[in-house]
Amino acid sequence: SSLLRSVKTLARPTTARAYSVDSVPSRKVTVLGAAGGIGQPLSLLMKLNPLVSQLALYDIGGTPGVAADVSHINSRSEVAGYMGDDQLGLALEGSDVVIIPAGVPRKPGMTRDDLFNINAGIVKSLCTAIAKYCPHAIVNMISNPVNSTVPIAAEVFKKAGIYDEKKLFGVTTLDVVRAKTFYAGKANVNVAEVNVPVVGGHAGVTILPLFSQATPKANLSQEDIQALTKRTQDGGTEVVEAKAGKGSATLSMAYAGAIFADACLKGLNGVPDVVECSYVQSTITELPFFASKVRLGKNGVEEVLGLGPLSDYEKEGLEKLKPELKSSIEKGIEFAKKN
Ligand code: NAD
Ligand code: LMR
Repeated sequence: SSLLRSVKTLARPTTARAYSVDSVPSRKVTVLGAAGGIGQPLSLLMKLNPLVSQLALYDIGGTPGVAADVSHINSRSEVAGYMGDDQLGLALEGSDVVIIPAGVPRKPGMTRDDLFNINAGIVKSLCTAIAKYCPHAIVNMISNPVNSTVPIAAEVFKKAGIYDEKKLFGVTTLDVVRAKTFYAGKANVNVAEVNVPVVGGHAGVTILPLFSQATPKANLSQEDIQALTKRTQDGGTEVVEAKAGKGSATLSMAYAGAIFADACLKGLNGVPDVVECSYVQSTITELPFFASKVRLGKNGVEEVLGLGPLSDYEKEGLEKLKPELKSSIEKGIEFAKKN
């Protein structure tokens, strides 16, 4: 096909060492909210991903410009911009992975839950369209409050009769990205080698980094662990305050979103042992949704991995987060049932 011909003439993607470009399956990725603070750099990073063959960029406005701009990059994917309700179906049709960074961000003094009233409706309408146009797609939910927007999406999909719990993910990768960065700084280890699971949810104390499982191991004091935990939990607020009214994390979020979408694509393509933390339907605690390590595969979630051994401090954190996470989940479910 002309696509394959053009792929061959492009700059060789980094994965070319692992297998020939011809054997990489076609994958359509759709970004909903592509003209936003996260959407633009995320669209750029997805354009750089050689696993993507078609990139659909949707927003209520601004996407023709973003799509024209990104489309000039000489990488594999064909890029198209879609704008407004009329074009949402086309943006979604045939999509394998839908990434949703649509919605309003925080200003200083706000919690993520303060975004609920606006973002719940946006997420509900976008998920209704996903159910109609690409019911089998993997969904990466970035819009806040993630603790509630993921349960909203699940309810919308259930109502439409297409819910597959293996395909719905709340993106918590930024918490992991932060935990890795902060741990490497404190432990004075090579950040490229660091791994830290982060479990629970994606807001304040519901974000529970498991530094007792961090590798490479370091002998940090309890005081250091507590400071690292707090900084990870407040990472979003740190950025919101530094941006002083101009929004929340966009660049680090685009990076984190690109890492997570890439993991989903690798899973779809049958790459073994792809494990990332994500907020998914779960039975590892009594809560119906919970973030933990997840093995990704051809159908989305292959396995929700357990928490592993926790320190006393982490056990305490786990019990403390449950009431808030539970009420955020219930709020989302209730909204979706009523509206
Ligand atoms: P932004 O305001 O810069 O961009 C949001 C974009 O969404 C805008 O371009 C807007 O036009 C678009 N949009 C609004 N309604 C839409 C609809 N119905 N359909 C399609 N697009 C629509 O905001 P941002 O900084 O990019 O943040 C977006 C969301 O991501 C916020 O809710 C924010 O809280 C959240 N966020 C989540 C994480 C995370 O870790 N999960 C991290 C950072 C931000
Ligand atoms: C983050 O963690 O940066 C995002 O959830 C945005 C926010 O509101 O903090």
